[in-house]
Amino acid sequence: MASAITQDGRARALADGNEIPLLGLGVWQVKDGPECENAVRWALELGYRHIDTAQAYGNERSVGRALRDSGVPRDEVFVTTKFYPVKDDPEAEAQRSLERLGVDQVDLYIIHWPQGGATWAWDGMQRAQQAGYAKSIGLSNFNVAELDELLGIAEARPVVNQVQFSPLKFRRALLDACEERDVALEAYSPLGTGRHLSDAGVLAIAERVGRTPAQVLVRWCLERDLIVLPKSTHRDRIEENAAIFDFELSADDVAALDALDTTDGTDEAQEGQWW
Ligand code: A2P
Repeated sequence: MASAITQDGRARALADGNEIPLLGLGVWQVKDGPECENAVRWALELGYRHIDTAQAYGNERSVGRALRDSGVPRDEVFVTTKFYPVKDDPEAEAQRSLERLGVDQVDLYIIHWPQGGATWAWDGMQRAQQAGYAKSIGLSNFNVAELDELLGIAEARPVVNQVQFSPLKFRRALLDACEERDVALEAYSPLGTGRHLSDAGVLAIAERVGRTPAQVLVRWCLERDLIVLPKSTHRDRIEENAAIFDFELSADDVAALDALDTTDGTDEAQEGQWW
């Protein structure tokens, strides 16, 4: 798959032609209210142009408030939310998300996880797109078998699959399958929810290249052609995690990070089902 990185190297085209910034702020487990508003406002001040929230996170209102308060024009920020698959109708839930976010449309709307099976929600996702509630539609936490089941019935193809991904969770078979199907892989928990920052292999490379462990982990995702969504509620860390466009990792460093994988190159999206 040609990843069609833009000239400034900070965005790429999705299979439906929409452009997505490679770096986004994740706000999983960020409390609704000042904590979330500050994180999103700081990120936008610091140059992020991509925010990733979800109905299940309960913080869409704060994301919307920070977006408005930032003064950054709506059309310059890529906003993702996710359908909470405990609910029945993705189209109706998209409308509610738009009200909470205070926007007319999200850039990307994805099924948060394949609860109840891979395919049932897709009709409602397509309806949400046709109604103009979402520019692009996609998936999260889908393994290869689920992705293929979905592709078998899809009229509008999903353009992303957002999964837990990092050197230590280098799901190579899942990544290869996504690339073959022109589905962009978005990496959530790229820092292993913080746990990978103290990994000896990561620390060694960070020391050698003169960058922080977080920057090495985020940059590895770019080297692997991924979209990457580090989460932080601290302004200095939000800034640190974005300082990744001014250096590269050598092929040897990328290979050393690849070798930290603990998933055996799986095509699964997660080790255990949580629903
Ligand atoms: P905090 O939100 O308190 O800053 P992931 O993106 O893999 O989910 O990791 C998020 C976790 O890593 C959060 O606990 C976050 O803490 C922490 N974190 C994010 N960025 C950094 C950083 N640059 N340095 C240290 N810890 C970080």
